[in-house]
Amino acid sequence: MIKVLIVDDIPETRDHLTKLLATEQEIDVVATAGSGEEAIRLAMEVRPDVIVMDINMPGMDGVAAAEFISQRLPTSPIIMMSVHGEAEQLRRAIAAGAREFLVKPFSADEFSTTIHSVFGKELARREQLQVVIPPTPGGQSENIEDHQVIAMFSPKGGAGRTTIATNLALAIQRETKSRVCLIDANLQFGDIGVLLNLNPKNRSMLDAVEGGEPDADIINSVVIDHSTGIRVLLAPPAPEGADLVTPAYLRKMVDQLRVNHDYVIVDLPAALTDHSLGVMDAADQIVVLSALEITTIKNVRLFLEVADQLEYDRSKIRLVINRSDTAQGIRIGDVEASIRRSIDGTIVSDGRLAVLAVNRGVPFVVSHPDSALSRDIAKLARTLAGEPAANKSTEKSAKRGLFARR
Ligand SMILES: Nc1ncnc2c1ncn2[C@@H]1O[C@H](COP(=O)(O)OP(=O)(O)O)[C@@H](O)[C@H]1O
Ligand SMILES: [Mg+2]
Repeated sequence: MIKVLIVDDIPETRDHLTKLLATEQEIDVVATAGSGEEAIRLAMEVRPDVIVMDINMPGMDGVAAAEFISQRLPTSPIIMMSVHGEAEQLRRAIAAGAREFLVKPFSADEFSTTIHSVFGKELARREQLQVVIPPTPGGQSENIEDHQVIAMFSPKGGAGRTTIATNLALAIQRETKSRVCLIDANLQFGDIGVLLNLNPKNRSMLDAVEGGEPDADIINSVVIDHSTGIRVLLAPPAPEGADLVTPAYLRKMVDQLRVNHDYVIVDLPAALTDHSLGVMDAADQIVVLSALEITTIKNVRLFLEVADQLEYDRSKIRLVINRSDTAQGIRIGDVEASIRRSIDGTIVSDGRLAVLAVNRGVPFVVSHPDSALSRDIAKLARTLAGEPAANKSTEKSAKRGLFARR
């Protein structure tokens, strides 16, 4: 039996839609709601298999309600209804997480077919996710030492950290079929929500901080299960929220999420702060992104000196050149000579695809897995995931010099 929730602000429409499904053996209208707010309340309560919702409602409209529900209850797929069916409306509905679209008026047949189809796809999706994400072996001694924290750093903003961290998390999940968590540690201006079409106002690490002690349950409760199968911890929704996340709290979140994820990918800000250094200490691998551009390369060299001061194992640092095919006179070999070490990976430039992915809120490794850009990310994923956790013993408690920290 498919449990359906119908949401429309007009009572006659709710009745009419309920009647359209009356003869359906396998569909049961379990509840109806007259507003977005009521839809959210009822959805949380009855956990419908399918939600059919009007896009235009006074107060909280269908888009806002869909955004909320699709994040909190990703297993209750939403079919959005409208009288117009304009491209713009369709786009907003899909961006909010709706899975299908029905233009009023529609026939009983069309209605039930759409419900069956959306429900069928949801079942298939769940099945697929179960294959991809093995359940945590309850109580078994899982070796947390095998779990990896991968930090994404660049000494320069705009290098592509967020783009690559996000797509890399998805690529690692696809390559290794394991549990992957992506953390946005750009506390003031986190962008991962945009790339994955998630709203940090609904849930972010700020909710954990405000929840008090950083215990495992609280931290895990603010991590979002993304529809792609990875889990995501978003940065606070606005810059002022960043002040509440201390370096110690950020570190605690990373350590805690490592316990129940095979890979934790952290998108770091482009600065050496107590926050980013704390994560780097915890990391098994630090991916340092560079461009083929003089000032960035200079700063990478400075960063490598700091890493030496911090006594990070050299193998912990992975040097990756982004937009490697857009060199203006600088070749990879020049960079390697300048920093006296070899490059671990390169990623081609594809501005059109990168921008399209951001605008659609669908990462390119998902939408265009066969593109050169996605293939480079997949290759990097294999390079990083192939490495055993190398440096557990190299984390020193006493750091010397400029970056001595208490
Ligand atoms: N390989 C690439 N090819 C084309 N554009 C890219 C590539 N990597 C990143 N970009 C674009 O560069 C801009 C900055 O990337 P972003 O990931 O936000 O950098 P950061 O997080 O380091 O500040 C974005 O517009 C992004 O789409
Ligand atoms: Mg960024």
